[in-house]
Amino acid sequence: MQHLQPHAVQSAFFRDRVALVTGGASGIGYAVAGKLVGLGAKVAIWDIQKERLDECQERYGDRVLTRSVNVSDKAAVSKAMDELTRAWGGVDHLLNNAGIIGQRMTVQDFDGDELDRVLAVNLKSMFYVSSAFIRASGAESSRSIVNLSSIAARTGGMVGNIAYATTKGAAASFTYALAKELAPHVRVNALAPGVINTEIQKDVFADPASIEAMANLIPLKRLGTAEEVADAAVWLLSDGAAYITGVVLDVSGGR
Ligand SMILES: NC(=O)c1ccc[n+]([C@@H]2O[C@H](COP(=O)([O-])OP(=O)(O)OC[C@H]3O[C@@H](n4cnc5c(N)ncnc54)[C@H](O)[C@@H]3O)[C@@H](O)[C@H]2O)c1
Repeated sequence: MQHLQPHAVQSAFFRDRVALVTGGASGIGYAVAGKLVGLGAKVAIWDIQKERLDECQERYGDRVLTRSVNVSDKAAVSKAMDELTRAWGGVDHLLNNAGIIGQRMTVQDFDGDELDRVLAVNLKSMFYVSSAFIRASGAESSRSIVNLSSIAARTGGMVGNIAYATTKGAAASFTYALAKELAPHVRVNALAPGVINTEIQKDVFADPASIEAMANLIPLKRLGTAEEVADAAVWLLSDGAAYITGVVLDVSGGR
């Protein structure tokens, strides 16, 4: 029997499959989109950063379909999914990745509008996009969803990010429940990254000393990279994880 390297196996799996990555214009989503394109998939990228979307389109050409979509807007999500289905016929894989930390808040003194915004972008979007995905995805086998939770779901995250941590806990619960709802046709898993060096963290870790202090709290003694989270996402989306559903996988350097 021919020996296939992991990359070759994944290329054979993803070739001409269609994936949708929300929040794919930067960080983890961008890394996942790039890896999927490299494996031969066609990737729809939804984000709100227009310039970065244009850069993605230029970089990957007709292998990607970029669109400015606010995933917390149900009508916009539905419209964008209709367009995507018309363009490429359906969607096989979904990465529910768009997210924000939101402004610092405590429960004692919270801002209701900001709370609604964080809930809408991080959590309600998962309902909107997953629902549209299910309607748009055909009867192909090996369909899959990966949601971005966080270790903040169990650690509570940093003080001041309680709205964020709450949505990430809900993303894990959403994953357990949706995995049951969609079995056996669609596998649904989540990733719980630890501290990953992307833009969402840029205010938190503006100072190199704070990066070092954080690294010391992580058993593997460093922050993670978007590429490392993307490798786990691509694996969970692929048939390499064919018997795994309803799982939240830490990618956290042991934290
Ligand atoms: N970086 C970390 O340490 C870390 C840790 C745990 C979980 N996560 C999760 O990983 C996911 C990706 O984060 P990242 O680290 O790559 O950060 P990032 O800021 O680089 O990427 C987030 C992307 O989401 C997009 N986005 C924000 N609001 C949107 C909206 N309303 N509609 C569409 N797109 C929107 C942003 O424009 C951005 O491109 C997030 O859900 C985040 O919570 C990140």
